[in-house]
Amino acid sequence: MTELSPKNAHARGEQAQRINRILSLAGITSRRKADDWIRSGRVMVNGRLLNEPGTRAIWGIDRICVDGQEIPKPSARLYLLLNKPFGYMSSLSDPQGRPLVTDLLKDILQRVYPVGRLDFDTLGLLFFTNDGEWAHRMTHPRFQVPRTYKVTVPGIINDESVALLRKGVQLPDGSTVRSKTSVITRSARQSILRMTITEGKSRQVRRMVEAVGHSVVHLIRTGFGKITLGDLKVGEYRHLETVEVEAMKRLVGMV
Ligand code: URA
Repeated sequence: MTELSPKNAHARGEQAQRINRILSLAGITSRRKADDWIRSGRVMVNGRLLNEPGTRAIWGIDRICVDGQEIPKPSARLYLLLNKPFGYMSSLSDPQGRPLVTDLLKDILQRVYPVGRLDFDTLGLLFFTNDGEWAHRMTHPRFQVPRTYKVTVPGIINDESVALLRKGVQLPDGSTVRSKTSVITRSARQSILRMTITEGKSRQVRRMVEAVGHSVVHLIRTGFGKITLGDLKVGEYRHLETVEVEAMKRLVGMV
């Protein structure tokens, strides 16, 4: 593995990271594609053309260019999207020692925290950040950021129940706002709904569905604001791209 500036390689110590990782953290491309770009001579560091994919550099200190364009300096802010698996707590600690969603953020050295919560048994889209204002606006009901869920209930859910979910239901802690609910499939065995809500009361989707007389057997959050899960595998995470972070900021009036 090549180290840029061999003379001070020791001093550069742990700060140096593989260029492919830097390009992926910067949201420019995947690590695999970055290696292809390096091999095909598209990447320069401090004016030197790279030819070895293993080369390391310090992001923010070394000048890293792709096709002659300098990549942006690292942001102090991190924004991640995890496809949360079943059986993980969306918190930073758990008195019962259950697995934590942060256990899945293997390469993340900075402290980030989950943006809102998904239940232990809910899967899907969960953001992490260290940007307090962003997290606050994503989750505060005043900003009405839509969250979309795929909800599986046993048996047939009738149109009246769907209409009640659309209208909003009464829960012990107050009524919910309207939801956008549509039926994806309906059979004697199970029905699958797509529900979009703009607030995040505790266990809101499960409680709304229970309030209209059904139980939830499977719940996945598939979208949040402008972002969808896409083909991210369960248990994997990725950095949000700059355009995605900006789109979310626009949605909540931060820019
Ligand atoms: N609504 C729920 O009931 N559970 C979740 O995890 C998220 C939304």
